Amino acid sequence: MLANKTVIISGASRGIGRATALLLAQNGANVVATARTAEDLKALEAEHTNIVGVAGDVANEADMVAVVKTALHRFGRLDVVINNAGYGIFKNVDEISVDEWDSLMATNVKGTFLLTKAALPTLKAQKSGHVVVVASDVAKRTFAGGSLYTASKYAQEAFMGALRKEVRPMGIKVSGVYTGLVDSHFHDKGHGHETSQNWLKEQDVAESMLFILSRPAHVVIDEFMVHPLEQEY
Ligand SMILES: NC(=O)c1ccc[n+]([C@@H]2O[C@H](COP(=O)([O-])OP(=O)(O)OC[C@H]3O[C@@H](n4cnc5c(N)ncnc54)[C@H](OP(=O)(O)O)[C@@H]3O)[C@@H](O)[C@H]2O)c1
Repeated sequence: MLANKTVIISGASRGIGRATALLLAQNGANVVATARTAEDLKALEAEHTNIVGVAGDVANEADMVAVVKTALHRFGRLDVVINNAGYGIFKNVDEISVDEWDSLMATNVKGTFLLTKAALPTLKAQKSGHVVVVASDVAKRTFAGGSLYTASKYAQEAFMGALRKEVRPMGIKVSGVYTGLVDSHFHDKGHGHETSQNWLKEQDVAESMLFILSRPAHVVIDEFMVHPLEQEY
């Protein structure tokens, strides 16, 4: 169902984004993969002919405009935007520096705004499209040490809620992905550590994304929550 669809995905140099870019390309989509690390994007491009990498920072408006332009130039259309780039800082409130606050919010929240804003004129003009945000289960709950990260994920949740009301009448879908623990490069102990062996795999989230994107035109998955069985919820 993804043949001839063009998908932009941020945070595609590693982790959930990379696995999703590959799976969607293997299922027929043309994929524009973006992240800051150009070498990693080159390695990803080498894995599938349907993938084009564009290096950029989601917090930079010009970079996100360039990503959308590349999608339209290379593939002639744009169908799906996946806002996936993000990272976490886990500290008590008084230990968080102002720089840490500003840069995390710039990536997780402003980045979601900038990539979505760059894509919306095209989606609105064609009266179709799909905006996906990889939030987190902590877009809906908090924990000690999570003030900065959960605030960024709650902000993504609020952004999606309002956006959904704006664009649904135009035939544009908005889907939130609320994942629990994933064994990616996100966590301090790194990918593949023994403590994360029963967590979700990057591929599990990629397959969730494929499911969300391959529903028939009249169906929208507004919210998709997924956890490893061993994680309390
Ligand atoms: N892993 C989990 O347990 C978990 C749980 C819930 C939600 N999530 C969410 O899932 C998303 C993906 O995370 P992940 O687990 O796949 O982590 P990851 O393996 O660390 O990958 C993060 C990706 O984001 C990119 N990125 C970071 N800052 C960026 C920026 N300023 N501009 C552009 N790209 C940027 C990184 O690429 P570059 O460094 O090359 O830019 C990388 O490709 C995040 O939004 C995260 O909050 C993760």
